[in-house]
Amino acid sequence: MAKKLIVANWKMHFTVGEASLYLHKLQEKVANTRKTTEVVLCPNMLTLQSLSLQVDRRKFRLGAQNCYFQDEGAFTGEVSATMLRSLVDYVIIGHSERRHIFNEDNKLIAQKVQAVVRNGLQPILCVGETRQERADGDTAHVLHDQVTAGLSNITSAEINHVVIAYEPVWAIGTGEFDKADDAVQAIRSIRKNVESMFGKKASQEIRVLYGGSVNGDEAGGYLVAEGVDALLIGGASLKADVFAGIVARTHELESV
Ligand code: PGA
Repeated sequence: MAKKLIVANWKMHFTVGEASLYLHKLQEKVANTRKTTEVVLCPNMLTLQSLSLQVDRRKFRLGAQNCYFQDEGAFTGEVSATMLRSLVDYVIIGHSERRHIFNEDNKLIAQKVQAVVRNGLQPILCVGETRQERADGDTAHVLHDQVTAGLSNITSAEINHVVIAYEPVWAIGTGEFDKADDAVQAIRSIRKNVESMFGKKASQEIRVLYGGSVNGDEAGGYLVAEGVDALLIGGASLKADVFAGIVARTHELESV
């Protein structure tokens, strides 16, 4: 069985010094769970270089929160997947904050997903409906559009490098989280979309995470939910005790 995957999205938090102190604390609290659980830390771009020298790779992998789709060129302010190659294993693409605050559309996101794979890294493609879309009963359509567009530049030989994160927009950073049963439904429809593009095997093997206001208390519900390969965690990943608790719980559930 595939290992569980816990991804910490630190978003735009921590200076270089603060990130280093926090990683130090995390390394003391998080045990080595390598046998059952892969733990990926996604700090801001500026801190990646220094954390890559400090990180205990027996416990953690690193990921970036974004990248541009061109490998190099006149793209002021951007960082490419090529530049991230020696630093990270994963890159979060199409996070709802990128989609909604920075107006990233499905076409750009598809180009980024492809760039990440082209550079030998693994994209974590984020998809999810807004509150209005959910109220209108459009969740399945929205997920279909985001998944099929996001994966449109990926070949069947590459699909096993992709991770999808289901993050309902209304649940991100709000303290409201999706009921595990509803998340299971949504994730099932994501796998159906993958199946129609890449076949049954790919749809069963692709790792799909849940994200959105996951904290220590209800994380366990998602960890045992059908088809959920674990979690993408924002706010709670900034609290060392809570985050270490979620990693420990995952390891415990997977060890039985
Ligand atoms: P949250 O963020 O856990 O703070 O809701 C999740 C995310 O944005 O990935």
